[in-house]
Amino acid sequence: MRVTDTSDLWWKTAVIYCLDVETFMDWNGDGCGDLEGLAQRLDYLAGLGVTCLWLMPFYPTPERDDGYDITDFYGVDPRLGTHGDLVEVIRTAKDRGMRVIADLVVNHTSDKHPWFRSARASRNSPYRDYYVWRDEPPAEQTAPTFPDQEDSVWSYDERADQYYLHRFYKQQPDLNVANPAVRDEIAKVMGFWLELGLSGFRVDAVPFFLETLGVDGGEEALADPHQYLRALRSFLGRRVGDAVLLGEVNLAHEDQQKFFGGSDGDELTMQFDFIAMQRMYLSLARQDAGPLASALLERPEGSPDSQWATFVRNHDELTLDKLSDSERQEVFAAFGPEPEMQVYGRGLTRRLPPMLDGEPRRIRMVYSLLFSLPGTPVLFYGEEIGMGENLAAEGRLAVRTPMQWSAGKNGGFSVAAPSRLAGPVVEGGFAPVHVNVNAQRRDPDSLLHFMMLLIQRYRECPELGWGRFAVLEQPYAAVLAHSCTWDDGCLVAVHNLGPEPRTVPLSGFDASARLVDLLCDGSTAVAQDGSVEIVLEGYGFRWLRVAHAGDRRLL
Ligand code: NOJ
Repeated sequence: MRVTDTSDLWWKTAVIYCLDVETFMDWNGDGCGDLEGLAQRLDYLAGLGVTCLWLMPFYPTPERDDGYDITDFYGVDPRLGTHGDLVEVIRTAKDRGMRVIADLVVNHTSDKHPWFRSARASRNSPYRDYYVWRDEPPAEQTAPTFPDQEDSVWSYDERADQYYLHRFYKQQPDLNVANPAVRDEIAKVMGFWLELGLSGFRVDAVPFFLETLGVDGGEEALADPHQYLRALRSFLGRRVGDAVLLGEVNLAHEDQQKFFGGSDGDELTMQFDFIAMQRMYLSLARQDAGPLASALLERPEGSPDSQWATFVRNHDELTLDKLSDSERQEVFAAFGPEPEMQVYGRGLTRRLPPMLDGEPRRIRMVYSLLFSLPGTPVLFYGEEIGMGENLAAEGRLAVRTPMQWSAGKNGGFSVAAPSRLAGPVVEGGFAPVHVNVNAQRRDPDSLLHFMMLLIQRYRECPELGWGRFAVLEQPYAAVLAHSCTWDDGCLVAVHNLGPEPRTVPLSGFDASARLVDLLCDGSTAVAQDGSVEIVLEGYGFRWLRVAHAGDRRLL
Protein backbone atom coordinates (compact mmCIF):
# COMPACT_ATOMS: atom_id res chain seq x y z
CA MET A 1 0.00 0.00 0.00
CA ARG A 2 1.26 3.47 -0.81
CA VAL A 3 1.93 6.07 1.85
CA THR A 4 -0.86 8.18 0.44
CA ASP A 5 -3.95 6.11 0.04
CA THR A 6 -5.29 7.25 -3.29
CA SER A 7 -8.79 5.98 -2.57
CA ASP A 8 -9.23 9.00 -0.27
CA LEU A 9 -9.22 11.05 -3.45
CA TRP A 10 -12.18 9.22 -4.89
CA TRP A 11 -13.03 12.10 -7.22
CA LYS A 12 -9.83 11.57 -9.23
CA THR A 13 -11.25 8.41 -10.79
CA ALA A 14 -14.99 8.89 -10.30
CA VAL A 15 -17.68 8.54 -12.94
CA ILE A 16 -20.22 11.28 -12.26
CA TYR A 17 -23.81 11.09 -13.51
CA CYS A 18 -25.95 14.23 -13.52
CA LEU A 19 -29.71 13.89 -13.32
CA ASP A 20 -32.77 15.93 -12.52
CA VAL A 21 -35.08 13.98 -10.20
CA GLU A 22 -38.01 15.72 -11.91
CA THR A 23 -37.36 14.07 -15.29
CA PHE A 24 -35.72 10.79 -14.27
CA MET A 25 -38.43 8.41 -13.02
CA ASP A 26 -41.97 9.09 -11.81
CA TRP A 27 -43.00 6.48 -9.24
CA ASN A 28 -46.28 7.94 -7.95
CA GLY A 29 -47.74 8.54 -11.41
CA ASP A 30 -48.33 12.29 -11.14
CA GLY A 31 -46.21 13.11 -14.19
CA CYS A 32 -43.27 14.47 -12.19
CA GLY A 33 -40.20 12.37 -11.48
CA ASP A 34 -39.59 11.73 -7.80
CA LEU A 35 -37.03 10.53 -5.29
CA GLU A 36 -38.75 7.20 -4.94
CA GLY A 37 -38.44 6.71 -8.70
CA LEU A 38 -34.75 7.54 -8.48
CA ALA A 39 -34.34 5.06 -5.61
CA GLN A 40 -35.85 2.38 -7.88
CA ARG A 41 -33.22 3.11 -10.51
CA LEU A 42 -30.13 3.14 -8.31
CA ASP A 43 -29.26 -0.45 -9.19
CA TYR A 44 -29.39 0.49 -12.86
CA LEU A 45 -26.97 3.36 -12.24
CA ALA A 46 -24.65 1.22 -10.15
CA GLY A 47 -24.75 -1.43 -12.89
CA LEU A 48 -23.77 1.19 -15.44
CA GLY A 49 -20.68 1.84 -13.34
CA VAL A 50 -21.55 5.29 -12.00
CA THR A 51 -19.73 6.12 -8.77
CA CYS A 52 -21.18 9.54 -7.99
CA LEU A 53 -24.61 11.00 -8.63
CA TRP A 54 -24.97 14.74 -9.12
CA LEU A 55 -28.53 15.76 -8.33
CA MET A 56 -29.70 18.94 -9.99
CA PRO A 57 -31.62 21.24 -7.61
CA PHE A 58 -34.29 19.37 -5.67
CA TYR A 59 -35.26 22.28 -3.43
CA PRO A 60 -38.63 24.06 -3.26
CA THR A 61 -38.92 26.36 -6.26
CA PRO A 62 -41.41 28.32 -8.34
CA GLU A 63 -39.58 26.86 -11.38
CA ARG A 64 -38.70 30.05 -13.21
CA ASP A 65 -35.27 28.55 -13.87
CA ASP A 66 -36.05 24.84 -13.65
CA GLY A 67 -35.20 24.64 -9.95
CA TYR A 68 -32.20 26.99 -10.00
CA ASP A 69 -34.49 29.54 -8.32
CA ILE A 70 -34.85 28.35 -4.76
CA THR A 71 -37.30 29.42 -2.04
CA ASP A 72 -35.87 27.29 0.79
CA PHE A 73 -32.26 26.13 0.84
CA TYR A 74 -33.06 23.56 3.53
CA GLY A 75 -36.15 22.09 1.88
CA VAL A 76 -37.08 19.34 -0.59
CA ASP A 77 -39.52 20.18 -3.38
CA PRO A 78 -42.73 18.36 -2.26
CA ARG A 79 -43.37 17.26 -5.86
CA LEU A 80 -40.20 15.16 -5.62
CA GLY A 81 -40.72 13.74 -2.13
CA THR A 82 -39.52 14.41 1.39
CA HIS A 83 -36.29 14.63 3.31
CA GLY A 84 -36.95 11.02 4.27
CA ASP A 85 -37.06 9.99 0.61
CA LEU A 86 -33.83 11.86 -0.07
CA VAL A 87 -32.06 10.17 2.82
CA GLU A 88 -33.23 6.81 1.45
CA VAL A 89 -31.71 7.69 -1.92
CA ILE A 90 -28.41 8.75 -0.35
CA ARG A 91 -28.26 5.67 1.89
CA THR A 92 -29.16 3.22 -0.87
CA ALA A 93 -26.71 4.86 -3.29
CA LYS A 94 -23.99 4.49 -0.68
CA ASP A 95 -24.89 0.85 -0.24
CA ARG A 96 -24.39 0.40 -4.01
CA GLY A 97 -21.01 2.13 -3.92
CA MET A 98 -22.19 5.53 -5.16
CA ARG A 99 -21.77 8.92 -3.55
CA VAL A 100 -24.25 11.73 -4.00
CA ILE A 101 -23.48 15.40 -4.56
CA ALA A 102 -26.03 18.14 -5.23
CA ASP A 103 -26.23 21.57 -6.73
CA LEU A 104 -25.38 24.36 -4.33
CA VAL A 105 -27.05 27.41 -5.84
CA VAL A 106 -26.10 30.32 -3.63
CA ASN A 107 -25.36 33.09 -6.09
CA HIS A 108 -29.05 33.97 -5.84
CA THR A 109 -32.40 32.98 -4.40
CA SER A 110 -35.82 33.00 -5.97
CA ASP A 111 -37.60 36.34 -5.67
CA LYS A 112 -40.23 34.32 -3.78
CA HIS A 113 -37.72 33.35 -1.10
CA PRO A 114 -38.84 34.71 2.32
CA TRP A 115 -35.53 36.60 2.57
CA PHE A 116 -36.22 38.55 -0.61
CA ARG A 117 -39.88 39.10 0.28
CA SER A 118 -38.79 40.64 3.54
CA ALA A 119 -35.87 42.52 1.98
CA ARG A 120 -37.98 44.23 -0.65
CA ALA A 121 -40.71 45.15 1.86
CA SER A 122 -38.59 47.46 3.99
CA ARG A 123 -35.19 49.11 4.14
CA ASN A 124 -35.14 48.11 7.80
CA SER A 125 -35.60 44.43 7.12
CA PRO A 126 -32.81 42.28 8.56
CA TYR A 127 -32.66 40.70 5.12
CA ARG A 128 -32.30 43.92 3.14
CA ASP A 129 -28.53 43.54 2.98
CA TYR A 130 -28.83 39.94 1.92
CA TYR A 131 -29.21 41.34 -1.60
CA VAL A 132 -27.45 43.94 -3.72
CA TRP A 133 -29.31 47.25 -4.14
CA ARG A 134 -28.73 50.52 -5.98
CA ASP A 135 -30.71 53.73 -6.19
CA GLU A 136 -29.74 54.04 -9.82
CA PRO A 137 -28.59 51.30 -12.17
CA PRO A 138 -24.90 51.77 -13.02
CA ALA A 139 -24.17 53.50 -16.33
CA GLU A 140 -21.75 50.74 -17.39
CA GLN A 141 -23.45 47.39 -16.96
CA THR A 142 -22.44 43.76 -17.09
CA ALA A 143 -24.25 41.86 -19.84
CA PRO A 144 -27.12 39.62 -18.70
CA THR A 145 -26.51 35.86 -18.87
CA PHE A 146 -29.79 35.19 -20.67
CA PRO A 147 -29.71 38.00 -23.25
CA ASP A 148 -32.91 36.94 -25.01
CA GLN A 149 -34.89 37.16 -21.76
CA GLU A 150 -33.36 40.03 -19.82
CA ASP A 151 -31.97 43.33 -21.05
CA SER A 152 -30.23 44.29 -17.81
CA VAL A 153 -28.79 42.70 -14.69
CA TRP A 154 -30.43 45.47 -12.66
CA SER A 155 -34.21 45.57 -12.16
CA TYR A 156 -36.27 48.15 -10.36
CA ASP A 157 -38.43 46.82 -7.56
CA GLU A 158 -41.36 49.07 -6.78
CA ARG A 159 -41.84 47.92 -3.22
CA ALA A 160 -38.19 48.32 -2.41
CA ASP A 161 -37.96 51.51 -4.46
CA GLN A 162 -34.46 50.47 -5.52
CA TYR A 163 -32.76 48.45 -8.20
CA TYR A 164 -31.48 44.98 -7.34
CA LEU A 165 -28.81 42.88 -9.02
CA HIS A 166 -29.63 39.64 -10.81
CA ARG A 167 -27.08 37.94 -13.01
CA PHE A 168 -29.70 35.54 -14.33
CA TYR A 169 -33.50 35.99 -14.60
CA LYS A 170 -35.01 38.96 -12.76
CA GLN A 171 -36.77 36.41 -10.57
CA GLN A 172 -33.33 35.38 -9.24
CA PRO A 173 -32.00 38.25 -7.12
CA ASP A 174 -28.28 37.88 -6.37
CA LEU A 175 -27.28 37.31 -2.77
CA ASN A 176 -24.84 39.78 -1.28
CA VAL A 177 -21.94 37.54 -0.37
CA ALA A 178 -20.08 40.48 1.13
CA ASN A 179 -22.58 40.33 3.99
CA PRO A 180 -21.19 38.04 6.74
CA ALA A 181 -24.73 36.94 7.64
CA VAL A 182 -25.16 35.59 4.09
CA ARG A 183 -21.84 33.77 4.31
CA ASP A 184 -22.93 32.20 7.61
CA GLU A 185 -26.18 31.04 6.01
CA ILE A 186 -24.30 29.46 3.11
CA ALA A 187 -22.05 27.52 5.49
CA LYS A 188 -25.09 26.38 7.45
CA VAL A 189 -26.80 25.18 4.27
CA MET A 190 -23.72 23.19 3.31
CA GLY A 191 -23.41 21.76 6.81
CA PHE A 192 -27.06 20.70 6.76
CA TRP A 193 -26.84 18.66 3.57
CA LEU A 194 -23.45 17.19 4.46
CA GLU A 195 -25.00 16.00 7.70
CA LEU A 196 -27.72 14.25 5.67
CA GLY A 197 -25.04 12.34 3.80
CA LEU A 198 -24.04 14.34 0.72
CA SER A 199 -20.42 14.00 -0.41
CA GLY A 200 -20.17 17.54 -1.65
CA PHE A 201 -21.63 20.02 -4.07
CA ARG A 202 -21.68 21.11 -7.65
CA VAL A 203 -21.29 24.82 -7.06
CA ASP A 204 -23.40 26.93 -9.40
CA ALA A 205 -22.04 30.00 -11.17
CA VAL A 206 -18.93 30.37 -8.98
CA PRO A 207 -17.43 33.57 -10.44
CA PHE A 208 -20.77 35.35 -10.11
CA PHE A 209 -21.31 34.01 -6.61
CA LEU A 210 -17.90 35.27 -5.51
CA GLU A 211 -18.29 38.47 -7.51
CA THR A 212 -14.77 37.98 -8.74
CA LEU A 213 -15.81 39.62 -11.97
CA GLY A 214 -16.89 42.79 -10.12
CA VAL A 215 -20.47 44.01 -10.02
CA ASP A 216 -20.44 47.18 -12.01
CA GLY A 217 -17.99 48.77 -9.62
CA GLY A 218 -20.09 47.94 -6.56
CA GLU A 219 -18.68 48.35 -3.09
CA GLU A 220 -20.30 45.09 -1.99
CA ALA A 221 -17.68 42.97 -3.71
CA LEU A 222 -15.53 40.86 -1.39
CA ALA A 223 -12.05 42.21 -0.73
CA ASP A 224 -10.53 38.76 -1.40
CA PRO A 225 -13.00 36.34 -3.00
CA HIS A 226 -10.46 33.54 -3.15
CA GLN A 227 -9.86 33.78 0.55
CA TYR A 228 -13.59 33.21 0.99
CA LEU A 229 -13.51 30.23 -1.36
CA ARG A 230 -10.60 28.79 0.64
CA ALA A 231 -12.62 29.28 3.81
CA LEU A 232 -15.59 27.44 2.30
CA ARG A 233 -13.37 24.57 1.20
CA SER A 234 -11.79 24.21 4.61
CA PHE A 235 -15.21 24.38 6.27
CA LEU A 236 -16.34 21.59 3.96
CA GLY A 237 -13.24 19.56 4.82
CA ARG A 238 -13.75 20.02 8.53
CA ARG A 239 -17.30 18.70 8.26
CA VAL A 240 -16.65 15.84 5.80
CA GLY A 241 -12.99 15.24 5.05
CA ASP A 242 -13.33 13.84 1.55
CA ALA A 243 -16.25 15.94 0.34
CA VAL A 244 -15.81 17.90 -2.88
CA LEU A 245 -16.66 21.23 -4.43
CA LEU A 246 -17.17 20.75 -8.16
CA GLY A 247 -17.31 24.25 -9.53
CA GLU A 248 -18.98 25.75 -12.56
CA VAL A 249 -16.36 28.25 -13.73
CA ASN A 250 -16.65 28.89 -17.44
CA LEU A 251 -13.52 31.01 -17.78
CA ALA A 252 -10.19 30.72 -19.57
CA HIS A 253 -7.90 28.02 -18.16
CA GLU A 254 -5.50 30.47 -16.55
CA ASP A 255 -8.40 32.10 -14.70
CA GLN A 256 -9.74 28.70 -13.65
CA GLN A 257 -6.37 27.97 -12.11
CA LYS A 258 -7.07 30.62 -9.45
CA PHE A 259 -10.31 28.85 -8.53
CA PHE A 260 -8.38 25.65 -7.81
CA GLY A 261 -6.22 27.70 -5.46
CA GLY A 262 -3.27 27.32 -7.83
CA SER A 263 -0.71 24.72 -6.82
CA ASP A 264 -2.04 24.74 -3.24
CA GLY A 265 -5.28 23.18 -4.48
CA ASP A 266 -7.19 24.53 -1.50
CA GLU A 267 -10.22 26.09 -3.24
CA LEU A 268 -12.47 24.15 -5.66
CA THR A 269 -11.69 20.44 -5.71
CA MET A 270 -12.84 20.03 -9.29
CA GLN A 271 -13.87 22.24 -12.19
CA PHE A 272 -15.60 21.48 -15.43
CA ASP A 273 -13.28 21.91 -18.39
CA PHE A 274 -15.51 24.09 -20.55
CA ILE A 275 -12.57 25.03 -22.74
CA ALA A 276 -11.71 21.44 -23.69
CA MET A 277 -15.41 20.70 -24.25
CA GLN A 278 -15.83 23.63 -26.67
CA ARG A 279 -12.60 22.84 -28.50
CA MET A 280 -13.66 19.21 -28.78
CA TYR A 281 -16.73 20.30 -30.76
CA LEU A 282 -14.55 22.50 -32.94
CA SER A 283 -12.28 19.50 -33.52
CA LEU A 284 -15.27 17.32 -34.38
CA ALA A 285 -16.64 19.94 -36.77
CA ARG A 286 -13.27 20.37 -38.51
CA GLN A 287 -12.28 16.71 -38.22
CA ASP A 288 -9.02 18.07 -36.92
CA ALA A 289 -7.80 17.01 -33.48
CA GLY A 290 -5.61 20.13 -33.15
CA PRO A 291 -7.98 22.43 -31.22
CA LEU A 292 -8.75 19.77 -28.60
CA ALA A 293 -5.12 18.71 -28.26
CA SER A 294 -3.94 22.26 -27.71
CA ALA A 295 -6.69 22.91 -25.12
CA LEU A 296 -5.57 19.86 -23.15
CA LEU A 297 -1.91 20.80 -23.40
CA GLU A 298 -2.66 24.34 -22.27
CA ARG A 299 -4.34 23.22 -19.04
CA PRO A 300 -2.39 24.81 -16.21
CA GLU A 301 -0.51 22.53 -13.85
CA GLY A 302 -2.26 22.39 -10.48
CA SER A 303 -2.17 20.42 -7.26
CA PRO A 304 -2.27 16.64 -7.78
CA ASP A 305 -5.44 16.58 -5.67
CA SER A 306 -7.33 18.99 -7.94
CA GLN A 307 -9.19 17.55 -10.89
CA TRP A 308 -10.71 18.54 -14.21
CA ALA A 309 -14.21 17.27 -14.92
CA THR A 310 -14.65 16.38 -18.58
CA PHE A 311 -17.98 16.24 -20.38
CA VAL A 312 -19.62 16.02 -23.78
CA ARG A 313 -22.95 17.53 -22.79
CA ASN A 314 -24.47 19.13 -19.73
CA HIS A 315 -27.97 20.29 -18.85
CA ASP A 316 -27.52 23.84 -20.17
CA GLU A 317 -27.02 25.14 -23.67
CA LEU A 318 -23.94 23.58 -25.22
CA THR A 319 -22.06 26.79 -24.83
CA LEU A 320 -19.52 27.81 -27.44
CA ASP A 321 -18.85 31.19 -25.87
CA LYS A 322 -15.10 30.68 -25.55
CA LEU A 323 -14.61 30.05 -29.26
CA SER A 324 -14.00 32.94 -31.64
CA ASP A 325 -17.03 34.13 -33.64
CA SER A 326 -15.87 32.34 -36.76
CA GLU A 327 -15.07 29.12 -34.89
CA ARG A 328 -18.52 29.20 -33.28
CA GLN A 329 -20.09 29.63 -36.72
CA GLU A 330 -18.19 26.56 -37.92
CA VAL A 331 -19.63 24.48 -35.09
CA PHE A 332 -23.11 25.92 -35.64
CA ALA A 333 -22.89 25.10 -39.35
CA ALA A 334 -21.76 21.53 -38.67
CA PHE A 335 -24.02 20.62 -35.77
CA GLY A 336 -26.87 23.09 -35.39
CA PRO A 337 -27.51 25.23 -38.45
CA GLU A 338 -31.21 25.96 -37.77
CA PRO A 339 -32.15 28.93 -35.55
CA GLU A 340 -34.21 26.68 -33.23
CA MET A 341 -31.06 24.65 -32.53
CA GLN A 342 -29.26 27.71 -31.18
CA VAL A 343 -29.76 29.82 -28.10
CA TYR A 344 -28.38 33.05 -26.62
CA GLY A 345 -26.26 33.51 -29.76
CA ARG A 346 -23.62 31.32 -28.15
CA GLY A 347 -24.88 27.77 -27.73
CA LEU A 348 -26.69 24.74 -29.10
CA THR A 349 -29.81 23.08 -27.70
CA ARG A 350 -29.04 19.65 -29.13
CA ARG A 351 -27.64 16.45 -27.75
CA LEU A 352 -24.70 14.72 -29.40
CA PRO A 353 -26.36 11.79 -31.25
CA PRO A 354 -28.69 13.94 -33.40
CA MET A 355 -25.80 16.32 -34.07
CA LEU A 356 -23.91 13.35 -35.52
CA ASP A 357 -26.99 12.16 -37.45
CA GLY A 358 -27.16 9.13 -35.19
CA GLU A 359 -24.03 7.64 -36.74
CA PRO A 360 -23.13 4.88 -34.22
CA ARG A 361 -19.39 4.69 -34.91
CA ARG A 362 -18.92 8.42 -34.60
CA ILE A 363 -21.01 8.65 -31.42
CA ARG A 364 -18.99 5.84 -29.84
CA MET A 365 -15.75 7.46 -30.92
CA VAL A 366 -16.73 10.67 -29.08
CA TYR A 367 -17.57 8.83 -25.85
CA SER A 368 -14.42 6.74 -26.13
CA LEU A 369 -12.55 10.03 -26.44
CA LEU A 370 -14.34 11.46 -23.40
CA PHE A 371 -13.44 8.53 -21.18
CA SER A 372 -9.83 8.47 -22.40
CA LEU A 373 -9.16 12.14 -21.66
CA PRO A 374 -7.27 13.03 -18.50
CA GLY A 375 -9.82 13.93 -15.84
CA THR A 376 -13.07 12.73 -14.34
CA PRO A 377 -15.90 12.13 -16.82
CA VAL A 378 -19.36 13.54 -16.15
CA LEU A 379 -22.39 12.11 -17.95
CA PHE A 380 -25.77 13.80 -18.32
CA TYR A 381 -28.65 11.34 -17.91
CA GLY A 382 -29.66 9.60 -21.12
CA GLU A 383 -26.25 9.97 -22.75
CA GLU A 384 -25.57 6.31 -22.02
CA ILE A 385 -28.39 5.27 -24.36
CA GLY A 386 -27.90 8.02 -26.94
CA MET A 387 -30.97 10.15 -26.20
CA GLY A 388 -31.77 13.05 -28.51
CA GLU A 389 -33.44 16.36 -27.77
CA ASN A 390 -36.90 17.81 -28.32
CA LEU A 391 -36.51 21.13 -30.08
CA ALA A 392 -40.16 21.95 -29.44
CA ALA A 393 -39.24 22.50 -25.78
CA GLU A 394 -38.04 26.00 -25.05
CA GLY A 395 -34.30 26.75 -25.11
CA ARG A 396 -32.27 24.66 -22.69
CA LEU A 397 -35.31 22.51 -21.83
CA ALA A 398 -34.83 20.72 -25.18
CA VAL A 399 -32.26 18.44 -23.54
CA ARG A 400 -34.09 18.05 -20.23
CA THR A 401 -36.77 15.66 -21.50
CA PRO A 402 -37.95 12.57 -19.59
CA MET A 403 -35.53 9.66 -19.31
CA GLN A 404 -36.36 6.92 -21.81
CA TRP A 405 -36.71 3.64 -19.96
CA SER A 406 -38.89 1.68 -22.35
CA ALA A 407 -40.64 1.78 -25.72
CA GLY A 408 -43.98 2.16 -23.91
CA LYS A 409 -46.11 5.13 -22.94
CA ASN A 410 -44.06 8.23 -22.06
CA GLY A 411 -40.93 6.15 -22.59
CA GLY A 412 -41.69 4.34 -19.33
CA PHE A 413 -40.95 7.52 -17.38
CA SER A 414 -44.48 7.95 -16.04
CA VAL A 415 -47.95 6.45 -16.30
CA ALA A 416 -49.53 9.92 -16.24
CA ALA A 417 -51.26 11.55 -19.21
CA PRO A 418 -48.64 13.07 -21.54
CA SER A 419 -50.06 16.53 -20.87
CA ARG A 420 -49.07 16.19 -17.18
CA LEU A 421 -45.45 15.26 -17.75
CA ALA A 422 -42.59 17.36 -16.34
CA GLY A 423 -41.38 17.84 -19.91
CA PRO A 424 -42.22 16.66 -23.42
CA VAL A 425 -40.87 13.26 -24.47
CA VAL A 426 -38.45 13.17 -27.41
CA GLU A 427 -40.15 12.56 -30.78
CA GLY A 428 -38.96 11.29 -34.16
CA GLY A 429 -35.91 9.12 -34.75
CA PHE A 430 -34.70 9.36 -31.14
CA ALA A 431 -38.12 8.75 -29.55
CA PRO A 432 -38.40 6.07 -26.84
CA VAL A 433 -39.57 3.49 -29.34
CA HIS A 434 -36.11 3.69 -30.93
CA VAL A 435 -33.94 4.68 -27.95
CA ASN A 436 -34.64 3.16 -24.54
CA VAL A 437 -32.96 1.37 -21.68
CA ASN A 438 -35.01 -1.83 -21.79
CA ALA A 439 -34.13 -2.61 -25.39
CA GLN A 440 -30.47 -1.73 -24.97
CA ARG A 441 -30.12 -3.84 -21.81
CA ARG A 442 -30.92 -6.87 -23.95
CA ASP A 443 -28.64 -5.97 -26.81
CA PRO A 444 -24.94 -6.64 -26.25
CA ASP A 445 -24.13 -4.41 -29.24
CA SER A 446 -26.02 -1.43 -27.84
CA LEU A 447 -24.56 1.94 -26.90
CA LEU A 448 -25.52 1.19 -23.30
CA HIS A 449 -23.29 -1.89 -23.24
CA PHE A 450 -20.52 0.04 -24.93
CA MET A 451 -20.74 2.76 -22.27
CA MET A 452 -20.57 0.12 -19.54
CA LEU A 453 -17.40 -1.20 -21.13
CA LEU A 454 -15.88 2.28 -21.33
CA ILE A 455 -16.74 2.98 -17.71
CA GLN A 456 -15.26 -0.30 -16.56
CA ARG A 457 -12.05 0.28 -18.48
CA TYR A 458 -11.82 3.86 -17.26
CA ARG A 459 -12.09 2.62 -13.68
CA GLU A 460 -9.42 0.00 -14.33
CA CYS A 461 -6.99 2.60 -15.70
CA PRO A 462 -6.09 5.00 -12.90
CA GLU A 463 -3.66 6.66 -15.33
CA LEU A 464 -6.66 8.44 -16.83
CA GLY A 465 -7.67 10.12 -13.61
CA TRP A 466 -4.22 10.65 -12.17
CA GLY A 467 -1.73 10.55 -14.97
CA ARG A 468 0.50 12.83 -16.97
CA PHE A 469 -0.96 13.62 -20.37
CA ALA A 470 1.05 13.74 -23.60
CA VAL A 471 0.07 14.11 -27.24
CA LEU A 472 1.92 11.57 -29.37
CA GLU A 473 3.41 12.65 -32.67
CA GLN A 474 1.81 11.16 -35.77
CA PRO A 475 1.08 12.50 -39.25
CA TYR A 476 -2.72 12.81 -39.46
CA ALA A 477 -4.61 15.99 -38.50
CA ALA A 478 -7.83 14.04 -37.93
CA VAL A 479 -6.17 11.72 -35.42
CA LEU A 480 -5.58 12.34 -31.74
CA ALA A 481 -3.01 9.95 -30.27
CA HIS A 482 -2.36 10.55 -26.60
CA SER A 483 -0.97 8.84 -23.58
CA CYS A 484 -1.63 9.04 -19.86
CA THR A 485 1.16 7.84 -17.63
CA TRP A 486 1.03 7.32 -13.90
CA ASP A 487 3.12 5.28 -11.53
CA ASP A 488 4.51 2.56 -13.79
CA GLY A 489 1.41 2.36 -16.00
CA CYS A 490 0.86 3.88 -19.42
CA LEU A 491 -2.27 3.96 -21.51
CA VAL A 492 -2.26 5.04 -25.14
CA ALA A 493 -5.49 6.10 -26.84
CA VAL A 494 -5.86 6.75 -30.54
CA HIS A 495 -8.98 8.38 -32.01
CA ASN A 496 -9.82 9.11 -35.61
CA LEU A 497 -12.09 12.15 -35.87
CA GLY A 498 -12.44 11.71 -39.60
CA PRO A 499 -14.19 9.21 -41.90
CA GLU A 500 -11.02 8.03 -43.71
CA PRO A 501 -9.35 4.86 -42.39
CA ARG A 502 -5.82 5.57 -41.13
CA THR A 503 -2.77 3.52 -40.26
CA VAL A 504 -1.14 5.58 -37.55
CA PRO A 505 2.61 5.26 -36.95
CA LEU A 506 3.69 5.85 -33.35
CA SER A 507 7.19 5.62 -31.94
CA GLY A 508 9.23 5.77 -28.79
CA PHE A 509 8.05 2.55 -27.14
CA ASP A 510 10.16 0.02 -25.35
CA ALA A 511 10.95 -2.69 -27.92
CA SER A 512 10.07 -5.39 -25.41
CA ALA A 513 6.55 -4.01 -24.87
CA ARG A 514 3.26 -5.00 -26.46
CA LEU A 515 0.31 -2.65 -26.94
CA VAL A 516 -2.71 -4.58 -25.74
CA ASP A 517 -6.18 -3.49 -26.86
CA LEU A 518 -8.51 -2.81 -23.94
CA LEU A 519 -11.76 -2.26 -25.83
CA CYS A 520 -11.50 -5.23 -28.15
CA ASP A 521 -9.46 -8.32 -28.72
CA GLY A 522 -5.96 -7.85 -30.06
CA SER A 523 -2.48 -6.59 -29.41
CA THR A 524 0.29 -4.98 -31.42
CA ALA A 525 3.95 -5.87 -31.06
CA VAL A 526 6.48 -3.05 -30.83
CA ALA A 527 9.20 -3.21 -33.51
CA GLN A 528 12.90 -3.27 -32.62
CA ASP A 529 13.14 0.47 -33.29
CA GLY A 530 10.34 1.16 -30.80
CA SER A 531 7.69 1.91 -33.43
CA VAL A 532 4.17 0.55 -33.91
CA GLU A 533 1.45 0.99 -36.50
CA ILE A 534 -2.09 1.33 -35.25
CA VAL A 535 -4.85 0.64 -37.75
CA LEU A 536 -8.00 2.72 -37.36
CA GLU A 537 -11.17 2.62 -39.41
CA GLY A 538 -13.02 5.84 -40.20
CA TYR A 539 -14.11 7.28 -36.80
CA GLY A 540 -12.18 4.39 -35.28
CA PHE A 541 -10.60 4.36 -31.83
CA ARG A 542 -8.39 2.13 -29.72
CA TRP A 543 -7.26 2.05 -26.11
CA LEU A 544 -3.90 0.35 -25.75
CA ARG A 545 -2.14 -0.63 -22.58
CA VAL A 546 1.62 -0.64 -22.84
CA ALA A 547 2.31 -4.10 -21.41
CA HIS A 548 5.56 -5.78 -20.54
CA ALA A 549 6.39 -9.44 -20.03
CA GLY A 550 5.05 -10.60 -16.70
CA ASP A 551 2.64 -7.65 -16.44
CA ARG A 552 0.18 -8.39 -13.63
CA ARG A 553 -2.41 -5.82 -14.67
CA LEU A 554 -5.70 -6.99 -16.12
CA LEU A 555 -5.27 -7.08 -19.86
C1 NOJ B 1 -25.94 27.60 -14.07
C2 NOJ B 1 -26.87 26.46 -14.21
O1 NOJ B 1 -26.18 25.38 -14.81
C3 NOJ B 1 -28.04 26.94 -15.03
O2 NOJ B 1 -28.88 25.89 -15.39
C4 NOJ B 1 -28.76 28.01 -14.27
O3 NOJ B 1 -29.78 28.57 -15.08
C5 NOJ B 1 -27.83 29.12 -13.85
N1 NOJ B 1 -26.58 28.66 -13.34
C6 NOJ B 1 -28.47 29.97 -12.77
O4 NOJ B 1 -28.56 29.24 -11.58
